[in-house]
Amino acid sequence: MKTFTYTGSPARVVFGPGAVSGVADEVRRLGGTRVLLLSGPAVGGAALAVRGALGPLLTAEFGGAAMHTPVEVTEEAQRVLDEHAADCLVAVGGGSATGLAKALAVRTGLPQLVLPTTYAGSEMTALLGETSSGVKVTRTSPSILPSTVIYDVDFTLSLPVGLSVCSAVNALAHAVEALYSAQANPVTDGMALEAIGRIACALPRIAAEPDNLGLRTDLLQAAWLAGMCLGTVGMGLHHKLCHALGGTLGLPHAQTHAVILPQVMAYNAGAVPEIMERIVTALGTSFGRAGAPAGVFDLVSRAGGPTSLRELGMLQNDIAPVARRAAATPYPNPREVTADSAEELLRRAWRGVRPSGGRQVPDLTWLTGQVVASLAGTPDDRTRQLVTGLVRRLHSFVTEHELTQAEWQAGIGFLTRTGQTCAANRQEFVLLSDVLGVSSAVDALASSRTPEATPSAVLGPFYLADPPIMASGADVATGLPGTPLWADIRVEDEAGKPVPGASVDVWQSNQDGFYDVQLPDLDGPVLRARFTTDGQGCLAFWSIVPAEYPIPADGPVGQLLAATGRHPWRAPHLHFMITPPGGRPFITQLFVAGGRYLDSDAVFGVKQDLVVDFTRQRGPAPAGRAVDGEWCQLRFTFRIEKG
Ligand code: BEZ
Ligand code: FE
Repeated sequence: MKTFTYTGSPARVVFGPGAVSGVADEVRRLGGTRVLLLSGPAVGGAALAVRGALGPLLTAEFGGAAMHTPVEVTEEAQRVLDEHAADCLVAVGGGSATGLAKALAVRTGLPQLVLPTTYAGSEMTALLGETSSGVKVTRTSPSILPSTVIYDVDFTLSLPVGLSVCSAVNALAHAVEALYSAQANPVTDGMALEAIGRIACALPRIAAEPDNLGLRTDLLQAAWLAGMCLGTVGMGLHHKLCHALGGTLGLPHAQTHAVILPQVMAYNAGAVPEIMERIVTALGTSFGRAGAPAGVFDLVSRAGGPTSLRELGMLQNDIAPVARRAAATPYPNPREVTADSAEELLRRAWRGVRPSGGRQVPDLTWLTGQVVASLAGTPDDRTRQLVTGLVRRLHSFVTEHELTQAEWQAGIGFLTRTGQTCAANRQEFVLLSDVLGVSSAVDALASSRTPEATPSAVLGPFYLADPPIMASGADVATGLPGTPLWADIRVEDEAGKPVPGASVDVWQSNQDGFYDVQLPDLDGPVLRARFTTDGQGCLAFWSIVPAEYPIPADGPVGQLLAATGRHPWRAPHLHFMITPPGGRPFITQLFVAGGRYLDSDAVFGVKQDLVVDFTRQRGPAPAGRAVDGEWCQLRFTFRIEKG
């Protein structure tokens, strides 16, 4: 048998369109004769109506209420209160105005009357969260609960649709968490289910009919009922995660509720199946059919609300720390919360994954834990970190996308074919890494991070060690057709000093976009050479202007590109590998300005600083060469780390 203790809210509620007209009577009912009116930003029309209805009772105003109720703001408002000897607090607005009224009431014992303009519900609780020097502290006291709440439906007509949706989901979250709270009881259950039903009916229509008084009435009544749930029973994982996300990352409060609620419901659904059934019934046929979590997800997305933390600006790297923080001091919740399971949940929320319809995604954290534990004895620390990280991500990839057997088999088949395509002159795995941007990511981490240095770029599969050694001024194209190119190159260190004696390998495609290694009939090597910089760090050579070319697309990687609607082309470029005496090789590419595919290079190799002019010239050519017609000139200084 379940036992519970229930205390009803003593707050007086006046509800209806135009209810503001009763504010003066309500103030007098509380014994007030001199009112301090509190408000925050953007409540213009509502504040005007309250002022008018208060008449001569209005003694002073404070319009600076702010989010999270900063103590400094409260102190400022208290000075206004003292100065005018106010004896009653009236607040109009959202959570900020209500918070300020509560903060002043708990300090002064004055009666407070609140006129909410959103659906957040805090006017129905005896809870106050204040921030001092950036730290939020919450406290509860009977004097924090407003004595009277006037819900004037007209005030919510001007609440923007986006905010209306998120704020209503905030109320929905109070109702849902009340149902599985440890203190749940028939009174709050009834209020919660009524609130869910009203929100599910009204929310999908609010975007099209924001001025519909009936819809606004449903939402505001739901907000009141959900607010009473919030004020009566304890909240769970959803509220914990929203506080952690808001507190650490400053994510917008109402929007965060909209994203997190369906994911927390999916997480808890297996632990409280009968409560999910009650929610399904309350949601009604349009949304209930998909199951409670998916139904709420659909409700939010169809009303135009946000469904992913990514779209709220959260960075993926912030997931793990927030999960750890939420799991460190959990709220009571029907299903146990660990750092791993909270992280998994937040990953789904970050991506905005729709919870599966009614069916539970099994909790695989035990399996991940077992595999991770099996790696604990890895002798090399770095190997352990990398393999552990990979296992975690693979497991969460599988659960996040609910990978099917067939999809798993297709993936394994793809990797098998990728391996089978590899040969001495065909690196299909490297190519896969290239087209997924992994090679460029590793390259970005490995390259110099000083802004003075020339950016690096990927090596690519067409490099050959030990190319022909040539003297400055030689022709690496050895007479192949194409627009002649004179490359005038200088190598400097980061301080701008020349680097003499550096070995400089160059390689490139021909005018049709092929490297010599791709043309078995060609008498190569050609279009590749090794030079050495002179005493001024310089070298020069003749070649031909490189052409754009497709990366090898006749294997599994080509199939992947086709399946994802991508082309295989690389923007035209020249490869360089520069090795200073006693230093590390520096690898990069120079791209032809104006060339094709600069903005959609298949391997993500183009960086703005590497796009250079190949200037068209006519007339006498360098190094005593007789050129008939047009030729191009490339001048470039590489700045490299010498050490
Ligand atoms: C290249 O530039 O040679 C290249 C780089 C990555 C993949 C394919 C080709
Ligand atoms: Fe290339």
